[in-house]
Amino acid sequence: MSPNVPRRYWLTGASSGIGLELAKVLLESGAQVALSARSREPLEALARQFPGQVLVAAADLTNSQAVREIGAQIAQAWGSLDTVILNAGTCEYVDARQFDASIIEHVVRTNLLASSYCIEAALPLLRAGQTPHLVGVASAVTYLPMPRAEAYGASKTGLRYLFESLRIDLSPEGIDVTVVSPGFVDTPLTERNDFPMPLRWPADKAARHIFAKLNGRPLEIAFPAMFIATLWPLSKLPNRVQLLIGKRMLRSPPPHKDDL
Ligand SMILES: NC(=O)c1ccc[n+]([C@@H]2O[C@H](COP(=O)([O-])OP(=O)(O)OC[C@H]3O[C@@H](n4cnc5c(N)ncnc54)[C@H](OP(=O)(O)O)[C@@H]3O)[C@@H](O)[C@H]2O)c1
Repeated sequence: MSPNVPRRYWLTGASSGIGLELAKVLLESGAQVALSARSREPLEALARQFPGQVLVAAADLTNSQAVREIGAQIAQAWGSLDTVILNAGTCEYVDARQFDASIIEHVVRTNLLASSYCIEAALPLLRAGQTPHLVGVASAVTYLPMPRAEAYGASKTGLRYLFESLRIDLSPEGIDVTVVSPGFVDTPLTERNDFPMPLRWPADKAARHIFAKLNGRPLEIAFPAMFIATLWPLSKLPNRVQLLIGKRMLRSPPPHKDDL
């Protein structure tokens, strides 16, 4: 593609947090961006701020039909996509004492299944695009089992496998695949966390970091470096040692059997 032709992106989860900041960085670079989230107003606000650059594609991405319609909307408007960044996600914590499978279902539906609907819609458009790039936002949680993260960790580990497997299968077609693994970032998602979040970054810094790395087509964009440097070696420890580390993160002991 000539340097004068703007790159065309589809970014999900663009209404808040990392996605909203990434949308601004992409638009400031002159790109054309299809923006998805359930909340339409923040997407419309970006469309007003960057006239002619935004395709508002608001929908609940857990609805596979709605995602197909976004694919059709982008196909009609642009006919192709160069980069797809699947960033939409949610987090809910599990209380193992009252294990509720609906939490697993909701988080996996949002983080994993919705991403697969987006991939189905995106691939034909990427195949028609220039130097196509598929990007998925997973999480550093995939490096180590964490307490209460049964739902979130399962969804993000599944997402990682989906992307890493797809990377192999798409390589003959020249579609690059990158997994983003943030540590802690200040967003509405983490505002609710009631535990320490070491080395956390502001969302605009995370967005600028992701954008700066995208051009190099790395397999992985993991940050903050200090956080990853601590976490990564732990991922290589034997399971029994990982269990001891996880137990030290438990905030309260399990109920005594006399309390039950
Ligand atoms: N913040 C962190 O520390 C951190 C760390 C590791 C990974 N991550 C990952 O980074 C991504 C962005 O998270 P964030 O921290 O920026 O959270 P956030 O501020 O809560 O943003 C989440 C985005 O996803 C969208 N979304 C959620 N459910 C959706 C659905 N069903 N359909 C369409 N859009 C949906 C939200 O928009 P609507 O509500 O308007 O639909 C919002 O735009 C997530 O995948 C998250 O797991 C975050």
